[in-house]
Amino acid sequence: MREIFCEKSKAFGDMAVEDFRFYMPTEIIYGKDCIRKNKDIFARYGKKAFIITYQIPGRHYALDDVTGVLEEEGIEYSVCTEIEENPSTETVERVAEIGRAKNIDFVVGIGGGSPIDAAKAVGVLIKNPSSKGMDLFQDANLRSVPIFAVPTTAGTGAEVAHFSVLTRNDIHTKQAISPRIFPAIAFLDAKYLMGMPERITRATAIDALCHCIESYVSTASSFLSRNIAEIGFRTFSECVSNMRAGNYTYEIREKQLLISTIGGIVNTQTGSCLPHGMSYCLTHFKKIPHGLACGLLIKEYLAIFKDKTKINRIMDLTGFASLDAFGSFIDDMLQLDIKVTEAEIEEYATDFAAQKHRFKRHPEPAGKEEVLRIYRNSLLK
Ligand SMILES: [Fe+2]
Repeated sequence: MREIFCEKSKAFGDMAVEDFRFYMPTEIIYGKDCIRKNKDIFARYGKKAFIITYQIPGRHYALDDVTGVLEEEGIEYSVCTEIEENPSTETVERVAEIGRAKNIDFVVGIGGGSPIDAAKAVGVLIKNPSSKGMDLFQDANLRSVPIFAVPTTAGTGAEVAHFSVLTRNDIHTKQAISPRIFPAIAFLDAKYLMGMPERITRATAIDALCHCIESYVSTASSFLSRNIAEIGFRTFSECVSNMRAGNYTYEIREKQLLISTIGGIVNTQTGSCLPHGMSYCLTHFKKIPHGLACGLLIKEYLAIFKDKTKINRIMDLTGFASLDAFGSFIDDMLQLDIKVTEAEIEEYATDFAAQKHRFKRHPEPAGKEEVLRIYRNSLLK
């Protein structure tokens, strides 16, 4: 039986089937108008909703759909649009106070990673009224009120991931909260992505790809997670020429939304690898958006691997002839002019290398030397 499995696994790139656990409790509802088509779901979760989203000058189609459905279902709601990009612990604490005062039953996070991550943290603080913001990083047993997630970007996969990453101004970095908060339901409707500006589209698409790649190479990956990530790589290959041309059709938006969700599913099984951890200082000190900061490092990260088996497989599936071809595509997408000094790189690398846990899931021996090489080759070219 074991032999049969091993034979079959060759169809997926000679990957052995090892023991694994796979947990993904979020219900995914996918398709055009999926919120309106499933409006009866909301009433099962209570009578008072708290919507956490962002402000935009024009129509906010996702918010309109959610509020329309809540009104039809007789559910009271409040809307909070105060969440900044990379939300801080202080912000979620303040927003949770508003939610507690309104006695809400569930939270709807609409947007990219920031509002959805904030919704999870706020949901925890509402469920646990005596908890403070810092408890989010210390008590893994805290639970949340139910969370619904409606992504309007295609990058973070926050709608199916248990992570909620907040900015910690006290220690100048971002950190995931300790409790694992999976949304109860993710509503995936690509029409909400149609107005997304090209720069955000590129940054989020690269973030999603990085989630798939970093999960795929991780020592925590499994037969199942790697094969799901491979669907992400194949789907990405179908987007490359449109991304080069800036031609984001509805069909391409659908694919990007699915890659993002796939990235979230696999990332939540394995966590990320070095590029994500190494990117946080670039976002914090250089204000480089998250997806771009990860994208900046990903090619040089893949270049440090001595065993190229998985790297070659990723290139095959994403449709790039070589790692260099992949790197120049990423550079074209990023179009970043970043000014970083050698002294800053030394400081970032020293800080990062001191965090030993960051290397745990990288499959080969690595330390400050590799980190310096990735930063230098990515940032000083
Ligand atoms: Fe990310």
